[in-house]
Order: sequence, then structure tokens, then C-alpha cells
Amino acid sequence: MRISESKIEEIRSAANIVDVISEYVQLRKRGRNYIGLCPFHSEKTPSFTVSDEKQIYHCFGCHNGGNVFKFLMEYKKISFIEAVQELAEQLGIELNYDQSTFEGQTEQEILFDINTEVARYFSNNLLNDEEGQIARDYFQKRNIKVQTMRAFGLGYALNGWENLVSFLKQKNIDLEKALQLGLIGRNKDGRVYDKLAGRIIFPIFSPNGRVIAFAGRKLRDDDTGAKYINSPESMIYIKGRVLYGLSFAKDEIRKLDKAIIVEGYMDLISLYQAGVKNVVAVSGTALTDEQAQLLSRYTKNVVLLFDADTAGIAASMRSIEILLRKDFDVKIATLPSGEDPDSFVNKYGKEEFEETIKRAENFLEYQTAYYEKQGMFDEPTKAAEAIRDLVKPIAIIDDELKRNLLIKNISRKFNLREKLLEKELEKALEQEKRNVKSQPQRIYKEDSVIQKTLAPEKIKSVPPPLYNTEKEIIKLLFENDSTIIELILQNIEPETLELEIHRNVLSSIKEYFSEKGNTNPADLISLFDEDTQSYLREITIEQYTLSHTWFERHPSIDAENKLYKYAIDLIKKYKQLHFDMKIAENQRAIENADSEEIAISLMKENQELERRRRELKIDLPG
Ligand code: CTP
Ligand code: MN
Repeated sequence: MRISESKIEEIRSAANIVDVISEYVQLRKRGRNYIGLCPFHSEKTPSFTVSDEKQIYHCFGCHNGGNVFKFLMEYKKISFIEAVQELAEQLGIELNYDQSTFEGQTEQEILFDINTEVARYFSNNLLNDEEGQIARDYFQKRNIKVQTMRAFGLGYALNGWENLVSFLKQKNIDLEKALQLGLIGRNKDGRVYDKLAGRIIFPIFSPNGRVIAFAGRKLRDDDTGAKYINSPESMIYIKGRVLYGLSFAKDEIRKLDKAIIVEGYMDLISLYQAGVKNVVAVSGTALTDEQAQLLSRYTKNVVLLFDADTAGIAASMRSIEILLRKDFDVKIATLPSGEDPDSFVNKYGKEEFEETIKRAENFLEYQTAYYEKQGMFDEPTKAAEAIRDLVKPIAIIDDELKRNLLIKNISRKFNLREKLLEKELEKALEQEKRNVKSQPQRIYKEDSVIQKTLAPEKIKSVPPPLYNTEKEIIKLLFENDSTIIELILQNIEPETLELEIHRNVLSSIKEYFSEKGNTNPADLISLFDEDTQSYLREITIEQYTLSHTWFERHPSIDAENKLYKYAIDLIKKYKQLHFDMKIAENQRAIENADSEEIAISLMKENQELERRRRELKIDLPG
């Protein structure tokens, strides 16, 4: 079922995002925007912002945001189509489904569709193909029921070089896209081959239940490859942002207000089959910031259940810090050595498993017990080090009362002097304060998105005035004004921008705008990947901007022309800054010049640059 682009457009423009969101979130007006408490993370001061002008929302705390459909999808945990249907119904707009498919599909939708077809194919191999017997036997040995295989979309990739390749060809699926998704590879002679051949398959789902990647586990003893082969990252799959199983677990997590975090795919599946459904898996690595953020939409209480081996313990320790920084309540459960959650629940059953979870310790007790077992407290020098390590995570906790309770508890339980712990805690708190203070060295300190999108060195290398000017120019592209967009496109070449994210935005808009002439900010923003979208929402919605001070300095210009004049000023400033940089660069070269000759020619060049800077003119459209 597909709804035509124009219908979606009609619905979006008929709905007012402020009205829609007001039904679920209490909003009040502040400046040009509306603000309220974010429904996607817990907060005491409102950072959830809705823009009436741009018809988008954005939370400055958790970076969730998008258009009106996105809000409904996130809030109600429904699919895009369901969100469109729901709004259409409210607005009394009739939906006539467009059967013509594929045309007008976005790149991402095409990739989702390919993954869905391929998942179906793998699943069919497992359930029905003759060769699938080996995989059926394997799952039976591991106590996985057919019903569970179906629920998780488990599959099997036939052994051989081009079974999947032939399937893709037969379905007329673009092989380049399948390569991009890492389903197939290409060898030196240019031949394509199946990448997951002979393996059992775990599809990996987005929180909304779409197939975004695959993991293939080896099955045969003679397979010399890695135990798991996972899809590479792609436009629809960013590993650090996915929690395996979340789409299955989210309702239960919300209901129980608690999540159990395990390491492996099989752990999650076996627990689910046994009736423990509030589980997500990190897929064998330490938790990332983004995974914690994602989980915090559903609960703030977690139990970590990692393997008792050294890698598992190290992963627990790292995950604890990340979770504490996001204000989670963290507990650690441990299994008898040699067991993982999958083997444990199969051996001892659900009740025993739940007992283990009930016995989960506070993170601090866990860490202390671990150090004690290592004999760290027996030797004074080691003990000092261990205590320093122990109080570090406590210093992250905001709540003083909680901190003191933890200290008391730990001193009593492990017979450590309370004063000693307090002294170390003081030091750690100082350090933590310094850490927090030393962060805003960056150009745009409020913005964590840009830090994620760009390497820190890269940001530091851009002088603040230039960054700010670029940013303001980019913002003007989202003012729903075609004259301003034309003005910018005519005067600024995307490649001349310092920041990659800005270059990408300007060049995509150049292409899209000249083709469609659409200036709607919500549509323009939706052209980009999630990181870029988040960055764009953040900069276009922000309250206080350079333009404010500029407008204050130019009170006489009439309102209608203001933005246009501002754009012209910005473009001039941008060009001047580039001249300045070039001149400064030449100046340095003059100082280091090997010969008089070179120095003179550079000086001449600088004179010319100065002249052009003085006589700077910009092209006006039309
Ligand atoms: N993993 C991975 N690549 C590997 C090994 C492990 O991505 N080469 C990830 C997988 O997500 C796996 C998790 O780490 O589920 C835990 O690894 P491990 O404990 O070795 O596997 P199990 O999940 O226990 O798998 P099984 O029970 O089938 O041995
Ligand atoms: Mn296992």
C-alpha cells in the first residue's frame, strides 16, 4: 500500500504541527516558537520546541525531532503510513492509494524494501527449503521453536557463491544497492558473490520494525570465517544507534519500566521465547551513548547482564558510566560462570532467571565486589587505586543524597573507611566539574549534533566568525523564500564552504531546488540523513541568533526586506572572510619566502586581493 507523494504533501500542509502536538504535550509560546516538556526523554525544564513557521519540532535535550508525521510515529510508536492515515482521518482528507509504486520512492525506502525482500527469502530458506534442514536442525538443537523463528524473521542463507545474487537478479533488484547494503560483495574480477552464504541469519530491525541490516552466524565447523558477519553501516544502518530486539521489547520495557541489556542475539531470542520480553541486546560491544539515549525513551531503569568473562566485565564497566551520565538507575546481574543468558534460561527456566534479575546489585556493589575478588583491597597501594576508580562513577551522579547513600552503603558493606571514600569523592567531583567546564572549547558549544557529525579537530580548525557566517547562510535556506535561496545559490559555491555538513546541504538543495522549486523548510530538511536533519532543526529553530543582533542594528529597514538585506550582508561578509583568509595565508608565505621574487609576486597578489575585497559586489537574482 502506497500513498502518493502529492497526497502526503496535501495532508502535511493541511495539518498544523502546533495543534497536533498540543493534543499530547502542553505547549506555551516563547518568542517565535512553542515550548514544552519533551515527551521523549525526562526533563524538568522544557527543551522541546515546536516551530509554527517551519512546521517542525525539535528537542534540544535529546535531539528528537522532525515533521508532524515523525512526531506521531515516535509518540504513538506507529509506522509512517499509519501516521499519514491518522492525520488524514482527523483532517477529513480522503486517501486514494497510488498503485504505481517505486516511482517517487526515496533512496532509503528502496533500501528498506530490498532488505524486506531478502529477509523473506532467507526466512523461506530456513522454513521450507530442502537445504534449510541443516539450519532447522541447528535451531532445534538450540531449543528454538518454529514460532520464534517466524517472530524474529530468522533465516538461512544457502551455501554457495551466487544463490542470493540469482534471487536479486530474478527480482530485478539493483545489485549496486545490494552491494551498498553489504548483502553481496564484489571480487577482484568484478564478479559479485553472496556474503553470508551457509549461515543462519538474524535480521536486525529498527525500533519501528523495519529490516535495516543482517547478521549471519556460522553454522558449519569447516567455515573458517568469523563467528558472526554483520552488515556494514549504510544509509539505513548505523551500528552504534541500534539496539537489537528493541522493536519487539519496547512495549514490555515501557510497561515494566525496566530493561535488561544482554550481549547476544541468541540471548535475547531465548529469553523472549521463555517469556522474558523486556530485553535488548548490544551485539557484543559496550553500550554507546546513542543506544543509551534511544533506550531512555522507554525507561530509565536497566539491568546489565553481560557475560562473566573479562570482556563482558570490561563492557559492563564502560556501559555503567555511559548510563549514569544519562541519569539511568543501573544494576548488574551475574550468571554462574560459563553461562550466558541463553544457556541459563534453557537450563534453569524463566523463574530461576527472574530470581537472578531480582538479585541484581547496584553498580557500585558490583564493582566493589569485583575489586575485592581481585584482592585489590588487601594491598594498600592497590586499594587506593581501586577506591579512586570506585568513586569516579559516583561523581557523575547529580543527586547529592543518592551519592551519600552510596558512599555509606559501600563503606559499611566492604568495611572501608567512610572518610576516605568521601575525600576521594571530593576529588572526583572536582575533576568532573573541570571536565564539564573544559568542554565548551568548541565553536558551537550548545550543539552536540555537530560534534557527532564532525571530528572535533575539524570543528576547531574553523574560525568562529566563519563558522557562524556559514551557519547563518545555511539557515537562510530554510526561510521558505525562493529569492533568498536563489541569491545564495548564485553567489556561493557549495565547495567553498568549510564544513562538510554545510557543503552537503547546500549542494543537495541546489540540485533539489533547481529541479522542484520547492522552498518548504520541512520538505527541504527531510532530504537529509538523520544526523544532518537533527543539525538543521537545531540551527534553524534556535531562538537567539546572529540575525537578532543584525536586525537590532538596522531598525530602519522595513520588515519585508529585512531578511533579504540580511542575506546580502551575510554573503558579503562570507566573501570578505575568504579574502581575509587568503590574504593572511599569503602574508605568512611572504614572511617565509625563499626569494625576493616570490615575496614580491605574493605582495602583488595581495594588493589585488585587497582591491577585490574593497570592490566586492554580489550578484542579485532576476
Ligand atoms: N558478535 C559479533 N561478531 C563476532 C562475535 C560476536 O558481532 N565475531 C556479537 C554478536 O552480536 C553476538 C554477541 O556479540 O550475539 C555475543 O557474542 P557471543 O557471546 O560470542 O555469541 P552468542 O550470542 O552467545 O552466540 P552463540 O550462543 O550462538 O554462541
Ligand atoms: Mn551464546
